[in-house]
Amino acid sequence: MDKIRVENLNAWFGSMQVLKNINVSLKEKKISAIIGPSGCGKTTLLRCFNRLHELVPGARVEGKIFLDNTNIYEKEVDPVMVRRRIGMVFQRPNLFNHMSIYDNVIAGYLLNNTKLSKERKDEIVERSLRLAGIWEEVKNRLRDYPSALSGGQQQRVCIARALAVEPEVLLMDEPTSALDPISTYRIEETIRELKEEVTIIIVTHNMQQAARVSDETIFMYMGEIIEVGSTSQIFTNPKQKLTEDYITGKFG
Ligand SMILES: Nc1ncnc2c1ncn2[C@@H]1O[C@H](COP(=O)(O)OP(=O)(O)O)[C@@H](O)[C@H]1O
Ligand SMILES: [Mg+2]
Repeated sequence: MDKIRVENLNAWFGSMQVLKNINVSLKEKKISAIIGPSGCGKTTLLRCFNRLHELVPGARVEGKIFLDNTNIYEKEVDPVMVRRRIGMVFQRPNLFNHMSIYDNVIAGYLLNNTKLSKERKDEIVERSLRLAGIWEEVKNRLRDYPSALSGGQQQRVCIARALAVEPEVLLMDEPTSALDPISTYRIEETIRELKEEVTIIIVTHNMQQAARVSDETIFMYMGEIIEVGSTSQIFTNPKQKLTEDYITGKFG
């Protein structure tokens, strides 16, 4: 089943068009990877999925993105609701440094002023940190500040924070690009486990990572989608010459 369907999406920064007539569907509870050379529009496309692109001054979007059956760019749709249903993890961990690990995980609720009992908060924090694969490492230091954690641990707390509000879709923009190989490996493991919970869209410039974690791969080039297919097909039997040249490292 399709969780997200993009129809004739175009996006601009000022007068520069950076996404050109994007049409693609993303399957529910699967991991889709977006690959392509630097500057091809991967981050912009990801930020259109949760209506972040339009927050950049001068930036503009045209077209439709259906989440289930609702076009999130319809006038009556509240972007805050969209962002609640579609969470995001960024390239670098961006925890709130003045808040404890515990408060960071429930930050989504604190920011919404949602009142929760102590028991309910404890439950959410434990569940989210377990899903992000970091509960055992932090369970005895939940009141510490994030600066006490390594970059990889912080990034997994960011994943926990995104999961805490139970999003239906999780966007990840090169989530391991700032991490060492062991932290990267552990986050990839976590991503594969999360597939049961949530639909995942991951941007990566690391083709091995796309091959390791994703079910479907989208190859972009200069603002366009060149090819979409199952990850095994894209990496073993690409249909487009441009895809083949990219995955065999002829350009990057
Ligand atoms: N805030 C911005 N203002 C103007 N242009 C931008 C901004 N962010 C990205 N761009 C440009 O938009 C294009 C697509 O960028 P981006 O989506 O970040 O690509 P990718 O994530 O694939 O590297 C690039 O040409 C980039 O220089
Ligand atoms: Mg990017």
